[in-house]
Amino acid sequence: MNIIWHSKSKQFHLYNGKISYIICVTPVGEMGNIYFGKCIHDKEDMSYVINRFGLSNVVVDAATESYSMELNRQEYPSFGTTDFGTQAFEIEQENGSKVSSFVYKDHKIFPGKRGLTGLPATYASESEAMTLEVYLEDEVAKMSLTLSYTIFEDHPVIARHAVFKNTGMSTVRITRALSACLDLPDPDYEWMQFSGAWARERIPEVRKISTGSVSIESKRGASSANQNPFVILKRPNTDENTGEAIGFSFVYSGNFIAQAECDTFGRLRVLMGINPNRFTWPLSAGESFETPETVIARTDCGLNGLSRTYHELYNNNLIRGKWKNTPRPILINNWEATFMDFDEERILNIARKAKEAGVELFVLDDGWFGERDDDFAGLGDWVENPKKLPQGMSGLARKVNALGMKFGFWIEPEMVNPNSNLYRRHPDWVLATPGRKSSLGRHQLVLDFSRKEVVDHIYGMLEKVLAGAPISYIKWDMNRSLTEVFSTELPAEKQGMVYHKYMMGVYSLYERLRNEYPEILFESCSSGGNRYDAGMLYYAPQAWCSDNTDAIDRIRIQYGTSYGYPISSIGAHVSAVPNQQTGRSVSITTRANVAYFGTFGYELDLNHISDEEFDEVKEQIKFMKENRELLQFGTFYRLRSPFETDQSAWIVVSKDRRKAIFGFYCLRSNVNSLPGFLKLAGLSEDMVYVLGGEEYYGDELMNLGVTLTKLGKGGLTTSQDFVSYVEVLEAR
Ligand code: GLA
Repeated sequence: MNIIWHSKSKQFHLYNGKISYIICVTPVGEMGNIYFGKCIHDKEDMSYVINRFGLSNVVVDAATESYSMELNRQEYPSFGTTDFGTQAFEIEQENGSKVSSFVYKDHKIFPGKRGLTGLPATYASESEAMTLEVYLEDEVAKMSLTLSYTIFEDHPVIARHAVFKNTGMSTVRITRALSACLDLPDPDYEWMQFSGAWARERIPEVRKISTGSVSIESKRGASSANQNPFVILKRPNTDENTGEAIGFSFVYSGNFIAQAECDTFGRLRVLMGINPNRFTWPLSAGESFETPETVIARTDCGLNGLSRTYHELYNNNLIRGKWKNTPRPILINNWEATFMDFDEERILNIARKAKEAGVELFVLDDGWFGERDDDFAGLGDWVENPKKLPQGMSGLARKVNALGMKFGFWIEPEMVNPNSNLYRRHPDWVLATPGRKSSLGRHQLVLDFSRKEVVDHIYGMLEKVLAGAPISYIKWDMNRSLTEVFSTELPAEKQGMVYHKYMMGVYSLYERLRNEYPEILFESCSSGGNRYDAGMLYYAPQAWCSDNTDAIDRIRIQYGTSYGYPISSIGAHVSAVPNQQTGRSVSITTRANVAYFGTFGYELDLNHISDEEFDEVKEQIKFMKENRELLQFGTFYRLRSPFETDQSAWIVVSKDRRKAIFGFYCLRSNVNSLPGFLKLAGLSEDMVYVLGGEEYYGDELMNLGVTLTKLGKGGLTTSQDFVSYVEVLEAR
């Protein structure tokens, strides 16, 4: 890994044996892109890449007559000169002009990586990464711009963000400040996005790229289940294991935009950042604005190769604290078992049975606080309800601890019900526009987390619950989109800051709780997976993947999630049947076979299952305890897509390739068809593996495949709806 500055040609080469990222100071002084791809030799001067054909009818000035920005690849394109593509940023200056041009002044190269202020970001030690900061200035706007690039030693990854500073005397307004732009020389890619809605999150969709743009965005105040802030560009022939793929992952949890724009000359521009729609950031003299980070990864090893990169990077350089790379506790959550209808005895009853099965952590979900017996009341009153918890959270936590289990609970700190003491005392603490009706979502309003006093108050209440209680886990929920966004604390010209300031408030509360209680495992949640993004993983190492706990739907949801996020982050539980969302009944075996490829837990009352099922649950927990390190942190490969066939399969392989576990699922039976074979991936070609008592070479299993009739005890002779098999392979 290195970053080289060629002072004569004014070019930077960032490389690490896997990728090269070459950028330059262009003839107009702004930053341009020369190359991003597989690692290539370093050269003093690659300015032959710069187009000087003068096709375009607008050039910059007489001295640079043959250089048009439109015909060259830019790094962080500005508005108003000769680039007619979508710009990376836009600054409204005092006289109303939005034209800008930031030219190179200086740079710095250093080992490691700086943190971002108040924002989530990947981190790295001095041996793990190198950073280039390029300092640019717009002398007319009187502003400076820093473009930051980090390259990682072990990953084909560039992390980028930008910082603006007002160096003049008058106030300017940033109306667009994206985190990264990548201009590519040809548009022969497909765009892959992960779309959905509540209970059907992160379903991959592939769109064609042609002249014009494709884009996705969120304007909901959360990254959203509708569009995930992660996209892939892939060559049309890229498959799971071969071919080029470039990923763009936004380390942010609020409004965003991701866009690919192909112009008539075939330049493909990819942009990602905070959604400019509903964003304005005034900067007074001396003030700065820092964008969140975008993580760009590139591989020639197909979509699995790309996912592997994100899994490893996020496990090692994004997720922090005690739970980083640590197998996660097997939990039981009472939500689907009791909803809000519980008292301490009912909870302890569930806990006792769970303990008998081997569960390690009890999670008390919604309904323990204020007047919360349904979702019309109580949010905001983070004080134990004495009818449900006579000895408080601490009393219940101690009783659960006495059973031999850890204890955690649910919160939704960003929200308030109009029917709550908090709202009655502070009606102005919500996001609401004066004179307008406030839309409710799940009968609740959103607290104005852009205000420090609001965040401080919530912290104070939570601290009282946490104080003295042995709490090991917190599930942090967020159950509605933001509407009528307006903060009573800010003047008119600052209302465009509210969405981002809200997100900064959320992050600050997370950071404060994490610092104060470093042992606590946080799981983020937002009506299931409505805020499943890399930003959240910086604070909460795992995320409740979806409120849809139906095993068959979960195969699709977890499969889609795995493209951008590590298995260690996927909150997955076995719940009761018929499933509360789909009405589908699936065996407890298949329910567990899906949940194993995640954090694993139960979301039902184990007192209500048959003795045979309970025996099986004990076995499942034993299996998970033995294998969770591999399942959560091994190398994961998708093998068969549930979006393309009626079956699905995936595998995790240990780092030394001596052990692997795969899951095979039949979503829908195909009568009178041959069972066929399942080709595995990630094994060592030469090792001999034992599967079901028989021996196979790795290359045999990966090329010929596993004979499906050999699966399980009886084997897949006739396929049936919802049958599944999880098999362990070990090298001889
Ligand atoms: C959301 C979550 C659920 C549960 C409920 C509680 O829907 O996604 O898991 O915690 O809230 O109200």
